[in-house]
Amino acid sequence: MSAITRVVSSRSGLRAAYAELPTGTVRAVVPTMGALHSGHAQLIRAARALVGQAGHVTVTVFVNPTQFAAGEDLDRYPRSFDSDVEVCAAEGADLVFAPSVETVYLDPEPMVTIDPGPLGTLLEGAVRPGHFRGVLTVVAKLVSMTGASLLLLGEKDFQQLVLVRRMVRDLDLPVEVVGVPTVRADDGLALSSRNVYLSDAERLAAITVPRALEIGVETARAGGSARDVLSAAQSHLQGRDEFEIDYMVVTDPDLGPAPESGEGRLLMAARIGKVRLLDNVRIDLGVGG
Ligand code: PAJ
Repeated sequence: MSAITRVVSSRSGLRAAYAELPTGTVRAVVPTMGALHSGHAQLIRAARALVGQAGHVTVTVFVNPTQFAAGEDLDRYPRSFDSDVEVCAAEGADLVFAPSVETVYLDPEPMVTIDPGPLGTLLEGAVRPGHFRGVLTVVAKLVSMTGASLLLLGEKDFQQLVLVRRMVRDLDLPVEVVGVPTVRADDGLALSSRNVYLSDAERLAAITVPRALEIGVETARAGGSARDVLSAAQSHLQGRDEFEIDYMVVTDPDLGPAPESGEGRLLMAARIGKVRLLDNVRIDLGVGG
């Protein structure tokens, strides 16, 4: 556990911090929007484990405006910088990079951005047009700024993970993407910075989401097809008026069509009150033989 976590907010501060490192130091970056919880902590811990004590872990804390559409929660996105730095220190991060919008975006609107391609218009992209263009652009910028060779992202945002992997592959970015399994509360709800928006009643109802996914996993385990998995998971949410389902799908691990056998993914997003709950699980199809 490193007690000394440095905090910088400028590009020059970032460069100065890296200039002090011995040549060849392996660097990892964990991009976040702050409001850190145990899910983020797990990513930082995984980064530290990957680079070892001699390596270097940067956590970026930046609420990226270009991935929020007008009318979304950019202005009220939860912010808790002091406790974020404490989480980073407790997990042994070496550096927190917390730039202003002006530091990251030299112009109010970048002229050149990264087009996520067709996968960026599905699922979350269908509900949040422009979202993944903003995500990919900022992730590419943060990788460039930090010069990291390892980039850690959570499976919680599975489409984001798939798209970043695809960007790295298609643009030959010199970074390895590492996906980290979703951290959940004791009752199964995936941790999310936005869970603080849930009322007590909504928080109780929210466990229906991981439960529906778990039913999907069980259905696959019992030999069910992708279609069986989907209908079992969907029926668990039927009649629950407090939920509005944005989507529920079974895909392959790259978000392509569901396979008959092998690894698949069950993904869903549902709205409860003003909060969107996103979740996904791995399913293993075709086990019934
Ligand atoms: P944010 O929502 O802060 O998430 C930062 C990272 O933490 C993402 O890789 C996300 O998948 C991961 N994460 C969130 N909840 C998690 C959980 N319960 N278990 C495991 N990992 C979890 O995702 C973003 O920020 C932004 O889009 C960003 C990549 C920083 C670009 O702005």
